[in-house]
Amino acid sequence: MIKEKRASDVEKILAKYPSKRSAVMPLLYLAQEEYGYCNDAAIREVAELTALDPTEVKSVVGFYTMFFEEKTGTYVVEVCDDLPCALRGADAFVRHCEHKLGVRAGETTPDGKFTLRTVMCIAACDRAPVAQVNREYHYSLTPESFDKLVDDLK
Ligand code: FES
Repeated sequence: MIKEKRASDVEKILAKYPSKRSAVMPLLYLAQEEYGYCNDAAIREVAELTALDPTEVKSVVGFYTMFFEEKTGTYVVEVCDDLPCALRGADAFVRHCEHKLGVRAGETTPDGKFTLRTVMCIAACDRAPVAQVNREYHYSLTPESFDKLVDDLK
């Protein structure tokens, strides 16, 4: 439980906000960091910490794509395929990513290292193709630079 395992982080987060409910997103990040995804136990725990109903917390998890409802790989590779990126070759780039990782978008590699996802605009349209790997941006990717990135992470 994060309130035991990450007690000081929980306290720091709660102290930053005038009301507990405002801490829901940072606490979900913390829970996701701890459990790998926002499972039902994490949702109940964050609900208890924020005095929210678990349904309200679950709706936050469901709304924001950066919260994962299922177990993911160690590295979550999120490639934007929204329209501006598509105009700069994102669709072909996603196919390359699928080929390199050996999975389709939405899947996790059998070794549990990589989850590949496609996402809507991540506000880097001018530097497409763009991907976020565990929230770190990688801009102006090419098939070669993506392969190197994956090989380095392995
Ligand atoms: S459309 Fe891809 S980053 Fe904006």
